Amino acid sequence: MDTLSNLIAPEKLSDEFNKIYGSGKDAVRVFASPARINIIGEHIDYNGGKVFPAAIDRFLYAAVRKRDDSRITYRDLKFPGVYDFDIRGEFAYKKENGYANYLNGIVTILKRRGCVFSGGFDALIASDIPPAGGISSSSALECGFAYALSEVFGFGISRKDIALAGQQSEHEFMNVNCGIMDQFIIATAKKDTAELLDCATLDHEYVPLALDGCRFVVMNTQKKRRLADSKYNERRAECEKALAILQAAKIQLTSAGRYTNTKDIPDLCALTPTQLDECKNVFSDETIFRRTRHCVTENERVAKAACALKEGNLSALGTLLKESHASLKEDYEVTGIELDTLADAANTERSCIGARMTGAGFGGCAIALVKNDGTEEFIDNVQRAYVKAIGYEAAFFTCSTADGVREIETARR
Ligand code: GLA
Repeated sequence: MDTLSNLIAPEKLSDEFNKIYGSGKDAVRVFASPARINIIGEHIDYNGGKVFPAAIDRFLYAAVRKRDDSRITYRDLKFPGVYDFDIRGEFAYKKENGYANYLNGIVTILKRRGCVFSGGFDALIASDIPPAGGISSSSALECGFAYALSEVFGFGISRKDIALAGQQSEHEFMNVNCGIMDQFIIATAKKDTAELLDCATLDHEYVPLALDGCRFVVMNTQKKRRLADSKYNERRAECEKALAILQAAKIQLTSAGRYTNTKDIPDLCALTPTQLDECKNVFSDETIFRRTRHCVTENERVAKAACALKEGNLSALGTLLKESHASLKEDYEVTGIELDTLADAANTERSCIGARMTGAGFGGCAIALVKNDGTEEFIDNVQRAYVKAIGYEAAFFTCSTADGVREIETARR
């Protein structure tokens, strides 16, 4: 069922580390950083909305050991070669540095935040998270590495600040203007729960993920996502434009909501759907209006989804998942034929409660809430429909929830 070939045994990582780097004075410490699914609340973390992600049992592992000198070296079990730098250096994004850019980004941001490295280190990375698959392989790397450095060098950075450092590195080093959802869930997740995160305040609540005979199946389009980052930044810019239009229009709102005049709204998700209806005429550009409508309605769906889950009403949750996908397809336009095919095929299956894309979109993954006893048949049928429409296979795996980034092994020399 699982098409990922090189799954890694984490307990072997420190042995592998010693084989590669030789033995050393300090301990090799191993950290596990999870992937995530977002159950609902897509593309609204950067619009002050609420999101509802969970960490899942796919991990990025980072083994780190301090060195006596100022060298830093990175190796990854999947990618050949070694990257070698000096901790005292200044780093900038360079295409030829590949995944090492994410690591240099974190080192740079930690230094900028006042962390003083007492020396260099060796690092070995291994991961069973599909790269660029929309379940946050890059945030797992950033937060896993930031947490590992914080623990190994004794910086004592809080989980919230680990998340913020990961996001800052994406913005300033990788030039992707992402929201906070991925880094926050990876830094703070608790197993058996989904996290209802208010992205305007970073207040969060853990909601037990009681799925009553069902589970989430992750469906990977396996589409190469070349345009993802630029399209992502484009959507974000469209939302900023929408907000500026609403604020400049200064429309007095009569229906209930947190704000009574559009000049005061700090972000798009501060509006209720009824309030948006009241002020929709300010949008001369129909595309900008649809982007706004997605944000406002998606934010409401998140609140309803959290209630549905608390009440154990999985069928209401399933309907919201389907509505979310439709809104991302029609209003936000971030799905594409591959994700639509997966979601449509999944949503016609008897054992599926609801399915939608998850993450940034434009390829990547979709999730489906599926009855346990129908999972195999579900995967077979959706795969068949996908291959027929797209011409190559999707990848499927079932998942359980996981804790946020943590140390899994210490004091190996
Ligand atoms: C990516 C970003 C997140 C979020 C999602 C869409 O995963 O990193 O901040 O915006 O897309 O919901």
